[in-house]
Amino acid sequence: MNREHARRLERQLAGAETYLVAWHDDVLAGHGAVQWQGCTDAEVRAAFPDCPEIYGLSVRPELRGRGIGTALIGAAEDRVRQRGLRWIGISVDVDNPDAGRLYERLGYLAKLRYRGVWSYLDAAGTKHVVDEPAIFMVKDLPS
Ligand SMILES: CC(C)(COP(=O)(O)OP(=O)(O)OC[C@H]1O[C@@H](n2cnc3c(N)ncnc32)[C@H](O)[C@@H]1OP(=O)(O)O)[C@@H](O)C(=O)NCCC(=O)NCCS
Repeated sequence: MNREHARRLERQLAGAETYLVAWHDDVLAGHGAVQWQGCTDAEVRAAFPDCPEIYGLSVRPELRGRGIGTALIGAAEDRVRQRGLRWIGISVDVDNPDAGRLYERLGYLAKLRYRGVWSYLDAAGTKHVVDEPAIFMVKDLPS
């Protein structure tokens, strides 16, 4: 089992995030999470306080382009609205313009370029740190 999924479930049980999973029949089609504390980057959090972040969004390659990513983002926005919060963010690597265009189409505006440092656990539980420039995008959620 990918240890990253276990980590997300642990964080959900601790109330730190909400883990969203999309199914296509009985196939796990995609996933993402709402990180309630916001972006892990301190500069981004200071600029956008109380702004939960969608992260780890991913759809199986053969199922992309069918609206699953859009549905996951919509589900994340619903949960943020339910908590009465006014905005939601998502980070995108500068070298991932396709994803950035999707977020723009869904109402997210590029706000802040920052040094994106994040980590994930592989199947063996080894932590990998990724360090690459990213853009924080924000969408207002009118109540
Ligand atoms: C980005 C991603 C989650 C979108 O999921 P999806 O189910 O394909 O999204 P939707 O079907 O709702 O929307 C399709 C749009 O996503 C965009 N997109 C981004 N990366 C894509 C990819 N690798 N394949 C297909 N579409 C992609 C396209 O611009 C497409 O827009 P279009 O209809 O104008 O061509 C998915 O493509 C993915 O897992 N990509 C690889 C991981 C990744 O980049 N994650 C984002 C991290 S910020």
